[in-house]
Amino acid sequence: GGANVVVVGSANVDHVVEIDHRPVGGETILGSDLVFTPGGKGANQAVAAGLVGGAVAFLGCVGTDSSGDLLIGSLAGAGVELAGLSRMSAPTGVAIIMLTPDGENSIIVAPGANRSVTPEFVATRAGLLAGAAVVVAQLEIALESVVEAVWHAPQARFVLNAAPARELPDQLLEECDPLIVNESEAAFLLGQESDDGAALARGLLARGARSVVVTLGSAGAWVAESDGEPVHVPAAVVEAVDSTGAGDAFVGALAVRLAEGAGLVEAARFAVQVAGVSVTRRGAQASYPRRDEVPAP
Ligand code: RIB
Ligand code: NA
Repeated sequence: GGANVVVVGSANVDHVVEIDHRPVGGETILGSDLVFTPGGKGANQAVAAGLVGGAVAFLGCVGTDSSGDLLIGSLAGAGVELAGLSRMSAPTGVAIIMLTPDGENSIIVAPGANRSVTPEFVATRAGLLAGAAVVVAQLEIALESVVEAVWHAPQARFVLNAAPARELPDQLLEECDPLIVNESEAAFLLGQESDDGAALARGLLARGARSVVVTLGSAGAWVAESDGEPVHVPAAVVEAVDSTGAGDAFVGALAVRLAEGAGLVEAARFAVQVAGVSVTRRGAQASYPRRDEVPAP
């Protein structure tokens, strides 16, 4: 008990290989040696939140395999409460990550145990959800399971990172406070390409989200609330090494500041600093900073 941020979502072990170009159909290439490192959007967000000092619980599923042990170790090491996590007789989720010099990483997720995060599973965690101040979800689990989590936490502020992009029912969109998306996810939801982050944020607000954050990597983020014009939050200036999971670091850190009572813009200013540190180090969870390692905005 006692968690005020509850993260519902996926946990994967990332299988990372560096390559000099993305192979095309029929092509075989040689890459670096393989690195196994804890990931998954849900677990990443929980670890990021825990490391910056949030009272965080993770609601999700891993397998009984050694990959499950790796994820549990990482979550526990960040101080994340694990009463809501189950171990299933399915393989732990796997992400195949190809890191290319252009920085546009390609990711394939094999869900495995994440498929066990069903609405029925979420309902068994109703007690955790009923005590949350902030509930955080992403879309590597079934949409129905996200809806179920919201249903059990009417008292909570709901933060949705709509990644990977998927159509959202209006009713769910109207609960998002904020909806957090990158540029391509925003364009998908709006059915229209744009490189104008403020316009994307305004468009998603008009579609019904209570508030919106559009993240733009090294170009920072746009924060839109119902009162007033979108606000630009610049990114931290850093030497990028590996941006895998930087968006998740942003989401987890933002949720903690919201639970602490910060406004959305203030929370985003903190979150870009946390994401900034994460891109200077390899891996997702392995790269996330503790609170005392986060530079002041
Ligand atoms: O957002 C980054 C994450 O996406 C990786 O850790 C990988 O597991 C995939 O879920
Ligand atoms: Na990183």
